[in-house]
Amino acid sequence: MAKEIVLTGVTTTGTPHLGNYVGAIRPAIEASRQENTESYFFLADYHALIKCQDPERVKQSRLEIAATWLACGLDTDKATFYRQSDIPEIAELNWLLTCVTSKGLMNRAHAYKGALDANLENEQDPDFGITMGLFCYPVLMAADILAFNAHKVPVGRDQIQHIEMARDIAGRFNHLFGEHFVLPEAVVGEEGSILKGLDGRKMSKSYNNTIPLFDTEKKLQKGINKIKTNLLEPGEAKDPNDSTVFEIYQAFATPEQTAQMRQKFAEGIAWGEAKKELFALVNGQLSEPREKYLELMANPAHVEEILQAGAEKARARARIMISNLRSAVGLVNFK
Ligand code: TRP
Repeated sequence: MAKEIVLTGVTTTGTPHLGNYVGAIRPAIEASRQENTESYFFLADYHALIKCQDPERVKQSRLEIAATWLACGLDTDKATFYRQSDIPEIAELNWLLTCVTSKGLMNRAHAYKGALDANLENEQDPDFGITMGLFCYPVLMAADILAFNAHKVPVGRDQIQHIEMARDIAGRFNHLFGEHFVLPEAVVGEEGSILKGLDGRKMSKSYNNTIPLFDTEKKLQKGINKIKTNLLEPGEAKDPNDSTVFEIYQAFATPEQTAQMRQKFAEGIAWGEAKKELFALVNGQLSEPREKYLELMANPAHVEEILQAGAEKARARARIMISNLRSAVGLVNFK
């Protein structure tokens, strides 16, 4: 049986945090070890340009995210790991898809609609601050996915609409030019895979409530100490189901460790003590990859080599796809 293709991208504007690790990086790397799947993971750096016009940030974030995935154990012999911007076929496919995508479909994309609604609310021109990059964001994402005919696309809940749009666009292209594309499906992680941040809301760069994954041990400790708790004193029973400290603990613990911590909460463990245990657990699991991460960050040429090899692998496949598509739409040589 042909292997199932799993593909996902990471927009390169931020620095990876614990929420990214638990919600995306760790499950993706685990899944990529399965025999019956073929994984494509990439740095969505074309997408980064939509949100970020700071070249240094984009550059730094690409390196940080690449080093993070490698340090966390991604096996690049097995998975294909590359930068979106190293695959010109994606940009070309983006255009072929743009030409069959109705504007009306893009009008409904939530990132664009959110920006539009904010303008209307502020009594601005409806188009204020809206680039064609933002408007066409879902087409580029469809190109990422369809270039490799991915079956499954692991994403956060906020991205489901984009995968549905990729299906629509693929269906439209297939209808016009023949069955070239597989219709991709979104795969959304379980509830427990979304970590809460310092303030108890979802851990996210946009809320400024993150704990960085591979900062120094001290910073990790400081981050954990900043997690919001309530005023219950040592000795008073605490509700684990309403605690970010417990939730993060659980995300790193074995079921036995979780059960023990649940017991300690019932017995009224002091918050300071619970945080100490949380730090020990998380730091224990991160210290080895942290060292690897620092080594990779200090050796960008090595990371570059890995990504170049990934791009070669990815392009070998994307070239075939694009060549077929060019014929399908009539872009053929005369002789
Ligand atoms: N838009 C995605 C995000 O912000 C990143 C992304 C870009 C992506 N292209 C993709 C995810 C293709 C999955 C498949 O999270």
